[in-house]
Amino acid sequence: MEYKRSIIITGGAGFIGSHVVRLFVNKYPDYRIINLDCLTYAGNLANLKDIEDKPNYRFAKLDICDFEGVLALMKEEKVDGIIHLAAESHVDRSIKDPFTFARTNVMGTLSMLQAAKVYWDTLPEKYEGKRFYHISTDEVYGALEVTDPSGVEPPFTTKASSGKHHLAYGKKFFTEDLGYRPHSPYSAAKASSDHFVRAYHDTYGLPTVVTNCSNNYGPYQFPEKLIPLFINNIRHRKPLPVYGKGENVRDWLYVEDHARAIDLIFHEGKTAETYNIGGFNEWKNIDLIKVLINTVDDLLGRSEGEDMGLITFVTDRAGHDLRYAIDSTKLQKELGWEPSLQFEEGIRRTVKWYLDNQDWLDNVTSGDYQKYYEKMYSNR
Ligand code: NAD
Ligand code: DAU
Repeated sequence: MEYKRSIIITGGAGFIGSHVVRLFVNKYPDYRIINLDCLTYAGNLANLKDIEDKPNYRFAKLDICDFEGVLALMKEEKVDGIIHLAAESHVDRSIKDPFTFARTNVMGTLSMLQAAKVYWDTLPEKYEGKRFYHISTDEVYGALEVTDPSGVEPPFTTKASSGKHHLAYGKKFFTEDLGYRPHSPYSAAKASSDHFVRAYHDTYGLPTVVTNCSNNYGPYQFPEKLIPLFINNIRHRKPLPVYGKGENVRDWLYVEDHARAIDLIFHEGKTAETYNIGGFNEWKNIDLIKVLINTVDDLLGRSEGEDMGLITFVTDRAGHDLRYAIDSTKLQKELGWEPSLQFEEGIRRTVKWYLDNQDWLDNVTSGDYQKYYEKMYSNR
């Protein structure tokens, strides 16, 4: 079959990538979708069981740092679009092992950019109809202050922000024109990769677009991240290691809303632009954790608040950013995107998914990962 488009999605076996692959494979049967992933500890093909037999889907086990391999795949599949999500994504791991983050996030992105440039340069139409879409994070902007500890109504309205919990903890937000001030090795590596992407546009004219998104939550997230880790611990009545006093603020977005934004921006975003994507949904960690406890207890038929005693305050994360808050007004105004899901509904759906999919959790928390995890947290 002659496909209308041929798109590589890197990191498609990971958390967000698997949602993006699923959306594209199902929504665009006339697109060839190639999931390029080397399957690190965070990559799991079980995330894509429901679409793995679709005729327009291919999995390619490949490291993004393997420039020759990536170039050969692009030529073989006549690739005209790249959605680049593959990365090392966990801040705590970056503090222990920064080199891996520089290799994957910086050198891997450079390898993807150069392969796209070299391949597209050989074509008569060159960059026409092509797109290199780089997925980045709000963490590159650094941290915001908490100036309103009790939370205030944010200065924007969206469907999702009309719910009662959607507060802002300060009057400043991350906007696209802010300078970069990354603090962790993870965000420093992501910032560096963003700079390379923009440099490939400014220097060679590569048709790039970059988005910076806030914290995602939903099914298939690796249980080293706050929400799936804590849901699993609450279920098994294990301690919940809250860093510092739990006062840090994150802006949460349901992962399928991020995937929808990626679809929209891939097709309609302007070349060389940056778009921020956020949930208009700030939560202090400690408040969010209480919601998780109540939701798990409710769904398991336990009495309300029964597991609050699991909260255990531990040594803070080094360089822990206090507050992230995205202003995604530009995306809302220019392309009409906004989060579709109320947080209460998204969190309930998410908790239910993890409770219903204990096998998936057991599978990824066994073996080598478990050993790594124990070593990582043994000093608390
Ligand atoms: P994840 O850790 O769940 O998945 C990363 C995927 O990349 C895995 O499948 C892994 O196998 C693959 N990968 C890693 N190194 C690779 C390499 N060298 N070659 C090929 N594949 C490799 O990550 P995620 O949370 O889904 O994040 C995806 C992207 O979105 C990242 O770029 C991250 O920076 C960005 N992001 C994440 C969030 C979030 O809240 N999770 C928010 C904003 C932006
Ligand atoms: O903002 C976007 C970023 O969100 C992404 O770029 C990252 O890839 C993603 O991992 C996420 O980073 P965070 O560091 O914000 O996510 P994490 O789930 O690790 O932590 C969320 C908050 O919870 C943070 O303030 C640290 C705190 N925390 C986390 C863990 C794992 C705890 O208090 N205890 C924990 O055990």
